[in-house]
Amino acid sequence: MHWIIDTDAGVDDAIAIAMPFVPDWPDHRILAITTVTGNVHVSKVNINVGAVLDVLKVDVPIHAGCDRPMIESHIHAEEFHGADGLGDAGLAKTERRPEQEHAALAIVRLARAHEGDLGLIALGPLTNIALACNLDPDLPECLARLVVMGCAWQARGNQTPAAEFNIAADPESARVVFDRFSNVVVLPWEVSLDQMMPFETFERICAGTSARAVFFAGMTRVVHVWKARFGFTGVPLPDPLAMAVALDERIIARELRARVRVDIGASIGRALSSLDYRHPRPNARVVVAVHADAAWRMIERAWTL
Ligand code: BDR
Ligand code: CA
Repeated sequence: MHWIIDTDAGVDDAIAIAMPFVPDWPDHRILAITTVTGNVHVSKVNINVGAVLDVLKVDVPIHAGCDRPMIESHIHAEEFHGADGLGDAGLAKTERRPEQEHAALAIVRLARAHEGDLGLIALGPLTNIALACNLDPDLPECLARLVVMGCAWQARGNQTPAAEFNIAADPESARVVFDRFSNVVVLPWEVSLDQMMPFETFERICAGTSARAVFFAGMTRVVHVWKARFGFTGVPLPDPLAMAVALDERIIARELRARVRVDIGASIGRALSSLDYRHPRPNARVVVAVHADAAWRMIERAWTL
């Protein structure tokens, strides 16, 4: 299976990006990484992705994408990911530059070239993917899979009381994507809250001596801020859990089928992801529990090689 990773990297995005780059997944090939404004501005995301690819020692084209949401002004998450998006640990530097081709055009081109054998893993706001849908209305049929880290299936939002960050950062694009695709695999925010990486596992990765482990320890220093601020009992890792699901669906412990629709109104429900379990045409498999130990093993392996 071929894949594109669409990301607003972001510390947990960076952790996720490494996961396919281990010898365990010969059947998965990452063709491109597309970037989008989200946690930080896309110009920073491009650098962060380049820095991660440097430490992984892999060559994958980076395609810069949308620098703003479809309609509203951007919101960032720098208080979680650092002003540079990689934990302000001095890691956000690279010689790599993005390709000329825009992310949305790359998505459309690769989806056509690998029709039926291309998956897309969306780890950020859905702006590039909505734009790609409008450029090529057949995109949903061309893609074999779309895995989205996003939504708050119990409306336990992390951006607003009801809305999850990736949806809240660009609700209109999320609305387009969920309206057009008929089989999205969704990893919602609450799963990463209910199933956090134990601090013991986290500290063990940080104690590693490989270049990957040293990078991991640097960018995740922000985890101590999260712990102090929110009293987390472990490390919430939404994007890596979505990546684990993409790489191996046996990670899924429980899923629900529903029609997901995103509220684009202007009131307290804005960006709420509504899940209609009784709808005759569900458009999503919503993962509500994972086999977390297997996911932690995937992350530890990827970052201690
Ligand atoms: C999502 O928001 C971002 O801050 C994370 O990278 C993740 O993709 C979680 O709500
Ligand atoms: Ca992200």
